[in-house]
Amino acid sequence: MIFVTGGAGYIGSHTVVELLNAGHEVTVFDNFCNSQPEVLRRVARITGKQANLVQGDLRDSAALLAALRASGAKAVIHFAGLKAVGESVQNPLAYYDNNVVGTVRLLETMNECGIKTLVFSSSATVYGDPQRLPLSEDHPLSTTNPYGQTKLVIEEMLRDLYRSDPAWRIGILRYFNPVGAHVSGLIGEDPLGTPNNLLPFVAQVAVGRREFLNVWGDDYATADGTGVRDYIHVVDLALGHLKALERLAHHAECRAINLGTGVGYSVLDMLRAFEQASGKRVPYQVGPRRSGDIAACYADPSQALALLGWRAERDLASMCADAWRWQSGNPNGYAQAT
Ligand code: NAD
Ligand code: UFG
Repeated sequence: MIFVTGGAGYIGSHTVVELLNAGHEVTVFDNFCNSQPEVLRRVARITGKQANLVQGDLRDSAALLAALRASGAKAVIHFAGLKAVGESVQNPLAYYDNNVVGTVRLLETMNECGIKTLVFSSSATVYGDPQRLPLSEDHPLSTTNPYGQTKLVIEEMLRDLYRSDPAWRIGILRYFNPVGAHVSGLIGEDPLGTPNNLLPFVAQVAVGRREFLNVWGDDYATADGTGVRDYIHVVDLALGHLKALERLAHHAECRAINLGTGVGYSVLDMLRAFEQASGKRVPYQVGPRRSGDIAACYADPSQALALLGWRAERDLASMCADAWRWQSGNPNGYAQAT
């Protein structure tokens, strides 16, 4: 049994599918602050299996303790958190409270239950503005906004916890840019309001919900001047979590591992690939740089291959085709679900 915080969210729901498909039992703990219960009905349709659901907030220690105890879990995958960079600048305390305090409560509760295996969702944002590319795990860590700071604080807290008690088994997964959707088109990314991230915005332009894409700057030192990122298919990312759990079954450690493809694509590469996958034109306008953005960011994924036996398998065409299947089949996300 695996206990999955934030299991109704974008990456969590895709991971729950892969866990159920692999024969694990799953308990999802989620407060639905950025997701909807409908996603778990879709997960059940895809897998033919049902995850247990507990609606609750990480910071509610009593609810968390009851749920974790009742689950009989042997390990926790911790996705729950707030993730909007701009919002974190506006309201940093909400981010420290939800992400950092929420994680402290989770770790205390796990300790109380004697569960010491954890996979944590970190981010390439902890590398700050890259000093060298590709980014390997030993690159210096720094952050440029409160969201990133919460990830770094949690990483440091996990390293301290492991130093204090080496019975812990902790996998810190540093995600690059997750995109795409399950191949069924039944689950995918469903951002509230105007998407901050590139692919959901492009998909909403293609489906006619928005007029054009704003390209945030074309004067970076990259091949076409637009920002370059390491986009990774969300199903590949999900499978990385299963590999991390397998490793932790045999290793008591606290280790950070990149999950990326090692390949960078520009904004215009992504736009063209999406046009190809969707058969739709995606009009765009070049605007000024977005504050806080970096020119390029991509992973050295060799540790994931060496230590987890994992590598990303799905290419850019399938990222876009799967994102389009989800977006065109669910133009308003889960909201219009019956
Ligand atoms: P998401 O918002 O879709 O999922 C997060 C889930 O956690 C949601 O279902 C939300 O309702 C739940 N949640 C949030 N706070 C909670 C709380 N206090 N108690 C209980 N549930 C709570 O986000 P996602 O894209 O699936 O991201 C999952 C994790 O991966 C996050 O920690 C995020 O910071 C990290 N991450 C995401 C990206 C990305 O680009 N999507 C990149 C790097 C890291
Ligand atoms: N972009 C646009 N127009 C848009 C949205 C994005 O041109 O409307 C560009 C950005 O300037 C950037 C690229 O597309 O060059 C990717 O932007 P995203 O917002 O999709 O992704 P980021 O790399 O900026 O940030 C993401 C997550 C962060 C995480 C970071 C590193 O949103 O939470 O990856 O993992 F910290």
